[in-house]
Amino acid sequence: MDKNTKDLKIAVAGTGYVGLSIATLLSQHHQVTAVDVVKDKVELINNRRSPIQDDYIEQYLAEKELNLTATMDAEAAYQDADFIVIATPTNYDPVKNYFDTRHVEEVIEVVMKVNPEAIMVIKSTIPVGYTENIRAKYNCHNILFAPEFLRESKALYDNLYPSRIIVGRPEGDKRLNDAAHLFAQLLQEGAIKEDIPTLFMGLTEAEAVKLFANTYLALRVSYFNELDTYAEVKGLDTSNIIQGVCLDPRIGSFYNNPSFGYGAIACQKTRNSCLLTMQMYQRT
Ligand SMILES: NC(=O)c1ccc[n+]([C@@H]2O[C@H](COP(=O)([O-])OP(=O)(O)OC[C@H]3O[C@@H](n4cnc5c(N)ncnc54)[C@H](O)[C@@H]3O)[C@@H](O)[C@H]2O)c1
Repeated sequence: MDKNTKDLKIAVAGTGYVGLSIATLLSQHHQVTAVDVVKDKVELINNRRSPIQDDYIEQYLAEKELNLTATMDAEAAYQDADFIVIATPTNYDPVKNYFDTRHVEEVIEVVMKVNPEAIMVIKSTIPVGYTENIRAKYNCHNILFAPEFLRESKALYDNLYPSRIIVGRPEGDKRLNDAAHLFAQLLQEGAIKEDIPTLFMGLTEAEAVKLFANTYLALRVSYFNELDTYAEVKGLDTSNIIQGVCLDPRIGSFYNNPSFGYGAIACQKTRNSCLLTMQMYQRT
């Protein structure tokens, strides 16, 4: 790709937490078209109102000068875009042990039809090995994977102050390596935080980062929920125990709040989440 960042056109597929936060971030400096299949969401965005609850997105849409339009016409949005960011839903079905990536493929198929030279960046959560498989399946060599680490309701904030930027690209492909650096530059340009740790790695390694980050967080929630349930059963004060445990700097006081009073339910949910993640890991 032989372009500087000044005149880039970007399309974003999906206007949920991931897609709308990225579209808002990038539209501060570039022409962005957000695509969704839900008419109401498209209309709200074009009226500068957020279809999701997120204080920063609501404020940016209402107050900032953004070069952002929304549409349901995917072909028109993708056909002259330099980058297409894919932020459509993916779901893991634990019963069928199947990861549903069909909405990601819907987007890839349209892009392959109308603009096969565009660079696609998958932001949706996908199983490890997916991007390499999809490159082979569609004989498409223009796909990057950039894992997303945001929290719901703080989606734009987490993109304005990201913990890190990671872009996966195939090793040894100079063109895609340049595109990966350009995409990272766009995310840095839109952010408020400076000196954001930025890593480039293989596609499958980038997918593994997302899997193991999710696994660790699910294990941590599960651990504190177990602690909470234990305290409840024994009639002990949970917060005293957590405070005492977390003052060990190896454990730390972050992300340690069990769902007090809902321990058993939340615990079962996070146990499931851990199990799912480990199953995804075993399948690869
Ligand atoms: N929400 C999070 O905290 C979070 C964090 C990291 C990663 N992710 C991952 O990012 C992806 C998106 O998550 P989300 O929370 O933004 O999802 P979401 O369900 O809130 O939004 C997805 C949007 O995509 C739209 N869509 C579906 N098919 C489409 C198509 N073919 N073209 C255009 N739009 C289409 C839907 O109508 C919906 O508005 C998922 O894979 C999710 O696992 C989510």
